[in-house]
Amino acid sequence: MKLTPSSSSQASAQSDQKSGAPTAPTASTTSFKVTLPALQEKKRIHTPIAALTAYDFASARIVDESDIDLVLVGDSLAMVMLGYDSTLPVTVDEMLLFTRAVRRGVRRALLVADMPYGSYHASVSDGVTNALRFLKEAGAEAVKIEGGRNRVELVHALVDAEVPVVGHIGLTPQSVHRMGGYRVQGKSFSAAEHLLEDAHALEAAGASLLVLEGMPREVAARITAELTIPTIGIGAGPECDGQILVLHDLLNLTFAPAAKFVRRYGDVAAQMREAVGQYRQDVVARAFPNDAESYHLTHEVHDRLEQERLEQERPDQDGHAIQLKKA
Ligand code: KIV
Repeated sequence: MKLTPSSSSQASAQSDQKSGAPTAPTASTTSFKVTLPALQEKKRIHTPIAALTAYDFASARIVDESDIDLVLVGDSLAMVMLGYDSTLPVTVDEMLLFTRAVRRGVRRALLVADMPYGSYHASVSDGVTNALRFLKEAGAEAVKIEGGRNRVELVHALVDAEVPVVGHIGLTPQSVHRMGGYRVQGKSFSAAEHLLEDAHALEAAGASLLVLEGMPREVAARITAELTIPTIGIGAGPECDGQILVLHDLLNLTFAPAAKFVRRYGDVAAQMREAVGQYRQDVVARAFPNDAESYHLTHEVHDRLEQERLEQERPDQDGHAIQLKKA
């Protein structure tokens, strides 16, 4: 497949434009494909795992080309892409659409899709049927589910169906109503013990990785030390085997104050405002587009058109403009 370096050069490559086909990602600096065993090996040799969310082709491609190990199509897209105030409304079909877009942009990283609320909560068989869709229809390499011991039966069934599972415990956004808000979990002795038990139960059931969200650093460190599968933290301190952030948090594209654990690495909102404002000003001032940004006729066609125009303007004997015959 032909590589095109930028969207503006695509505009002149009409055949590419017509096909509408996304261009292939460029090779990353480390070209091996990240697999689950490779992530397990990273834990073994104490090499941190860098993970991020992505929801569309362009950002997935940038994330993948930046050598991020794991790309999660998180159900956080319900909030950051679709504007809902929780993750609960997003559907399997919507998640599949975004996962397919991300799949086209990811070549190197392990691609994990989030199972949305309601897609595995009614029955284990629903969960397996929906999970298979993410692998078959969207090219995901694993699915992520929220919950601890209550998901053991589902994890067994998924692993049986050859679906690799990423568990997710601690602050689980799909349980927002039960938790009474987005609150750090595992702060009391018994709550910390419960999280440890959840982590062990998921590992024993066959989960390949575990996301630890919104829990005291000490609890996450203990889970990480006790499990053989890698832990990926978000608001869970630095001892986890890896870290994940929501891409929009990292870039300041969320329109909300950042949580304590978020570090903003860029201000894309400010850059977009600046660029869009500048564009508007240029259009209003007729400074965009300029001649170099315009297409041109050949001299021959230009001269013919000009001649026809002049003839059209030349009056006949009665003083009427001559009507051109339409070709
Ligand atoms: O949906 C999501 O983006 C997530 C991450 C925060 C881990 O679950």
